[in-house]
Amino acid sequence: MRVDGVVRVPGHKSISHRALMLGALGDGVSRVRGVLQSLDVQSTAGVLRALGASMPALGEETVIRGGGLHGLRAPRADLDCGNSGTSARLLAGIVAGSPFSGRFVGDASLSRRPMGRVARPLTQMGARFAFEGEGEGLPMTVHGGRLQGLTWHMEHASAQVKSALLLAGLVADVPVEVHERTPTRDHTERMFAGRGVDLRVEEGVVALVPTGRLDAGDQLVPADPSSAAFFAALAAIADAGQLALDDVCINPTRAGAFRVLRRMGALLAYEDRRTEGGEEVARIVVGPGGLRGAVIEGGDVPSLVDELPVLACVAACAEGETRVTGAGELRVKESDRIKAIVENLRAVGAAAEELPDGFVVRGSGRRPFTGRVKTHGDHRIAMAFGVLGAIPGSEITIDDPACAAVSFPTFWEELARVRG
Ligand code: S3P
Repeated sequence: MRVDGVVRVPGHKSISHRALMLGALGDGVSRVRGVLQSLDVQSTAGVLRALGASMPALGEETVIRGGGLHGLRAPRADLDCGNSGTSARLLAGIVAGSPFSGRFVGDASLSRRPMGRVARPLTQMGARFAFEGEGEGLPMTVHGGRLQGLTWHMEHASAQVKSALLLAGLVADVPVEVHERTPTRDHTERMFAGRGVDLRVEEGVVALVPTGRLDAGDQLVPADPSSAAFFAALAAIADAGQLALDDVCINPTRAGAFRVLRRMGALLAYEDRRTEGGEEVARIVVGPGGLRGAVIEGGDVPSLVDELPVLACVAACAEGETRVTGAGELRVKESDRIKAIVENLRAVGAAAEELPDGFVVRGSGRRPFTGRVKTHGDHRIAMAFGVLGAIPGSEITIDDPACAAVSFPTFWEELARVRG
């Protein structure tokens, strides 16, 4: 397979969610350029509307008139987060710090995902959580109110939990200190710092000092490294050509997949590095190389957690073994991704096995793969196997390709375009 061309993948999902939330909570007008217009981000916009925020339809430039930290209102309807864990967890932090209650609901996948990880620390701050089911999933009602400050040692490496606590502290005007053993994506910290929030960041500790207000701020949304990773992977498993991926956020807390692709033997270079919207961005140029297996361990995982499905597919095309450990978080993503990766790799003819906290793939070089993939409605499983299915001679059927729309609505068109 030969690949050629330039791809500008859509806007950064994590930054888009946060830009809408901070826009709604800011004092004055915030302009967000290049927001991701996908189902997940629409979920955040919809919940903010239900909370009384003035949130226009998402467009190339989305202008948000913020109502300030205390401008949100008690919702009259359920807060529907669809498939989006980031919406549910971050917005739970915002509601926890506000003087009203909100009932969070989501689709079947989101309803299975653990919310106890945000409920425990937010309860310690003084919020109340009521779960309707047996476990700690949605539907859940968050009763917000006057909170007290918190020092929290993270139980999981999770930027969603860290961000929920920082947002709760910001809205409730109380100090929050979060201790992380493994660094996770720091977009919230960067965006807070850009909006006048007093935030101290030191090795493993993020401390919010309440200031009672949030400045409005314009946000340029870079391309999402998680979406770019599918095309970097495609170029790595191609036989010839190269792809240029424009405006990609290369924040080191997010660039683990690019580092691993290089370790596996792909030719990958950053060009035109610059800072935009508080993040380092670059054009990433990727081409094939002799691919070999890699070892990925716990410390690497947060920087590539969402890219493990596609890295597993690249591993199937490499020579030798790829071993991923310390990635138990994959079990509680949009699907049990350890199971989904391994079952689907086997279904298309690759050798893989599950580990309790990861998986092993025994690669057998570039060759066609054939079989039926069950996505379990998980966008990243669909797109990862879409990349593998692009190898000439492969015949991979994907049960629900449309689920890519939660993060990358134009994925299939872009894939067809660069394959020529
Ligand atoms: C996200 C954090 C990660 C990631 C998710 C987006 C965020 O989740 O998997 O896609 O925007 O903060 P965890 O915090 O559960 O690791």
